[in-house]
Amino acid sequence: MTNLHGYPEPRQTTSAQETQARDWAQARLSPYRFMHSEGVVETITRLGTHYQIAALPALRLAGWIHDAAKELPPDELLALAEALGCAIRPVERACPDLLHGEVAVALARRDLGIDDPVITSAVRYHTTGAPGMSQADRAFYLADLIEPSRSYAWIMQARALAYEDLDVALLFVITYQLRRLLKQGAIIDPRAMELRNELLLSGVQFVLRQP
Ligand SMILES: [Fe+2]
Ligand SMILES: [Fe+2]
Repeated sequence: MTNLHGYPEPRQTTSAQETQARDWAQARLSPYRFMHSEGVVETITRLGTHYQIAALPALRLAGWIHDAAKELPPDELLALAEALGCAIRPVERACPDLLHGEVAVALARRDLGIDDPVITSAVRYHTTGAPGMSQADRAFYLADLIEPSRSYAWIMQARALAYEDLDVALLFVITYQLRRLLKQGAIIDPRAMELRNELLLSGVQFVLRQP
């Protein structure tokens, strides 16, 4: 059996809680963003199976909810973050989109009663990464970037690396993401730089193949 993207469906049962989270997210998202979320769930299932990550069921739930606040306008996102009691860093006040994971965590807690630390952490850090991420967080961060509907110049290399070594893949995609942001003159979340430094300081390396 194949899925929307033409890949064989990984064998994974869908729990009642997952169905509830999927329906909740679908009601909040455009068809495009919902398809992305489906892609993240498929991809984290593959990666989680490949690396035998015990928290895979929680990560599948994270896949459904992670972008639930992504399509809110910046002023609404900021207001909602304040109303839900999220801690807001200066960089997030300047770029409210950085808050969409944190707000999704708060909404899922409020609406679905989801308070699992594995889910919370994966959703919270999926946008920028952060130092000290768990293996589950790292796999989830990559699943968000390499799911089938994504298309970057470097996507094929990132997809291949993700199944070879999570840390090398992570360093690779973060470096390309930061290069893109620097070229755009965008504000950069220090968490992304801290994660990149953490990887480099622990000896992770990759060869930059594209200009
Ligand atoms: Fe996101
Ligand atoms: Fe996403």
